[in-house]
Amino acid sequence: MIAKTYTCSLLGIDAVLVEVEVDIASGLPGFSTVGLPDSIVKESKDRVKAAIQNSGYPFPFERITVNLAPAALRKEGAGFDLPIAVGILSAIGIVSAQRAEKMIFCGELALDGRVKPVAGCLPMAIRARDSGFDDLILPGENAREAAVLNAVSVRPANHLCEVVEYLNGRMDLPAFGFDLDSVWQNSFSDEELDFEDVKGQEHAKRGLEVAAAGNHNVLLIGPPGSGKTMLAQRISGILPALSFEEALETSKVYSVAGMLSRSPLIVRRQFRAPHHSISDAGLVGGGQIPRPGEVSLSHNGVLFLDEFPEFRRNVLDLLRQPLEDGQVTIARAAIALTYPASFMLIGAMNPCPCGYSGDPIRPCTCSPNTVMKYRGKISGPILDRIDLHIEVPSVKYEQLRSQGPSEKSSAVRERVSKARQIQLQRLPGEGIYSNSRMKPKHLKKFCRLDAAGQSILDQAVVQLGLSARAYHRILKVSRTLADLEEAENIGSQHLLEAIQYRSLDRRLF
Ligand SMILES: Nc1ncnc2c1ncn2[C@@H]1O[C@H](COP(=O)(O)OP(=O)(O)OP(=O)(O)O)[C@@H](O)[C@H]1O
Ligand SMILES: [Mg+2]
Ligand SMILES: [Zn+2]
Repeated sequence: MIAKTYTCSLLGIDAVLVEVEVDIASGLPGFSTVGLPDSIVKESKDRVKAAIQNSGYPFPFERITVNLAPAALRKEGAGFDLPIAVGILSAIGIVSAQRAEKMIFCGELALDGRVKPVAGCLPMAIRARDSGFDDLILPGENAREAAVLNAVSVRPANHLCEVVEYLNGRMDLPAFGFDLDSVWQNSFSDEELDFEDVKGQEHAKRGLEVAAAGNHNVLLIGPPGSGKTMLAQRISGILPALSFEEALETSKVYSVAGMLSRSPLIVRRQFRAPHHSISDAGLVGGGQIPRPGEVSLSHNGVLFLDEFPEFRRNVLDLLRQPLEDGQVTIARAAIALTYPASFMLIGAMNPCPCGYSGDPIRPCTCSPNTVMKYRGKISGPILDRIDLHIEVPSVKYEQLRSQGPSEKSSAVRERVSKARQIQLQRLPGEGIYSNSRMKPKHLKKFCRLDAAGQSILDQAVVQLGLSARAYHRILKVSRTLADLEEAENIGSQHLLEAIQYRSLDRRLF
């Protein structure tokens, strides 16, 4: 008696189709699972047996072999319980084998037969669609995230009995549907933090606008209380809306992390601000059951590292790969996993341990050695990947008191969105959504300089001792500055402004 059914296993943020074959043969009672199961999948047999019996169905006391194919792929997590149970019930004729073969099942089983939620149902729905399946049977709590796609019939089940009754045609499991437009519409509320609350700091605001427009990385440097944290927390308000593709990409990450319960689709750019005590796995992902880290949870959004030098240096150095490639690779025993991690980095720091180095009023009490050591916590390679170094000096009392109007975030967002639109049109269909992600071949094409511009850049490279990477990053920021002005070509003024944002390279570090 052999029965077959299908499920999915996660590989990074994508799901792979897995065939579940169940063979029941006479012999000594036993239950073995083959096909690279991890320890949680192996434990599945105890849950499946209890769930089947407690749901009132017979459990075969014979030799049961479950084969998960493709065998080379490591199977992780508890989502295999439901397909294995269906396979067994199908093999002993309790459910229609013909119907069970045509659907994808996933879900963890409680001992009493309840179907419990699992991670990654959005990528599974995408896999179901791409593999030509019409029906996906999954836990009730995961229905919303999978139904976002609107391409397969997502049928939520809360108990094993419901699945059995459905497969035997005695009960319907209605396909779940909901109004995606309402999710988009409800996503923008007005009560968020606004740039207009920040008095003065026009230079820093301009820098953040440029960063938002081209998705560039930023380091804010200034004394305590100058408003660095305040500025960074308001960045979401000036970022352009997510496109549907971007929203789907980010939602896949959250689905895999099991974090899509509140909203079925992530429609806003995420702002993640992990504490400096974060672990390596917390930041870049990993763990026994692999899970995306903060760099991936901020995919298409912002990763804010406040008190930048307080992060352990080797933790910061893990940012090198994602900052360069927009993705992160995690080595696993059998296979390397890749998660997307294209985020805008915002770091904030004081210029020295006491905080007042360079301040016109309060004197700095640090020795040159301690200042050097403090700044040395941020390695050259990380600093090299930060496009804009923005000084945030203390605000003057008169400015703080002034009731004069400051610009609202929505006005800045409009300019930023316009500049991003230009970038999207320039780089269509390559999965590149901003200037910061341009490749060298794009730079050659879209960042041509005239003779005057070239000589400005040459001089800066020599004087500041810039690396080839810094050179390319200046070009990208210049492209963004030109886009903000809707200028066709990069002009000298754009280059000069972009170079000025790097000037801390030499002075501070
Ligand atoms: N430019 C400003 N306009 C209005 N309020 C400000 C400004 N700068 C600072 N403040 C006030 O000071 C508080 C502290 O600012 P914030 O926490 O952003 O400082 P910080 O630069 O992050 O300091 P630290 O280096 O100590 O972390 C803010 O909550 C706000 O009330
Ligand atoms: Mg702060
Ligand atoms: Zn100091």
